[in-house]
Amino acid sequence: MQNIQLAIDVGATGIKGALVDLDKGELHSERIKYDTPKPATPDAVISTAKKIIEDLEWKDKPIGIGFPAIIKNNVCLTASNIDKSWINVDLKKIVHDIVGLDSHTINDADAAGIAEMHFGKGKDQKGTVIMLTLGTGIGSAFFKDGLLLPNIELGRMYYRESVSEHYASNSARKRLDLSWEEYGKELNEFLEYVDRIFSPNLMMIGGGISKKFEKYQEFINPNLNVTPAVLKNNAGIIGAAMHCQLVSK
Ligand code: BGC
Repeated sequence: MQNIQLAIDVGATGIKGALVDLDKGELHSERIKYDTPKPATPDAVISTAKKIIEDLEWKDKPIGIGFPAIIKNNVCLTASNIDKSWINVDLKKIVHDIVGLDSHTINDADAAGIAEMHFGKGKDQKGTVIMLTLGTGIGSAFFKDGLLLPNIELGRMYYRESVSEHYASNSARKRLDLSWEEYGKELNEFLEYVDRIFSPNLMMIGGGISKKFEKYQEFINPNLNVTPAVLKNNAGIIGAAMHCQLVSK
């Protein structure tokens, strides 16, 4: 029997969902995407997620969610790139109220990292592995010998005059209108900083911009072990599905 799980990846610009084949680490359905509502209040976001759940005709069983904030026991504790009204919202409760299903939520970068560790470049990697997702913000996931240390927020690390994601995320590249060379150097500085503090064995770059790795690769210090993730846009959905099944057992 196929091992299928629905998961939703909530992002600052889009809310994506699909059925995931957990044995293969692949999508089992088309990926459905809606724009993130504005304002992205808890009710509006979960009502959008509900459309995906209905589109995919998912019933009765729990859903996995990847969410761009610190998540502890399914409660959202921060809101750096999402509506402030999310702080202290219990996702399990609001999903149950609006969708009528049980759910399990994990930080979006932790989800992407879990998927990449299992099915991508992190497979069988020992030591310290860091996944960085470069998008609207910077998400990070830390692994020691394959085990996740959740909710580490490298994007919120104090850096120069604010926090690192204000300089090295993909949205910072667009906002500051950086060329690939300028962005590559900026990202390299951030990666060197992370390397100095955590001495990772491997850093994996995910998020939409991982698809364009060749455009800035030459500006990344070759002594850092940096690689683009392979799962690309679907890592967050696949990882949220894996997490859901893991904790549902
Ligand atoms: C949030 C993280 C999130 C990352 C990527 C950051 O602003 O603080 O929790 O993982 O964005 O979405």
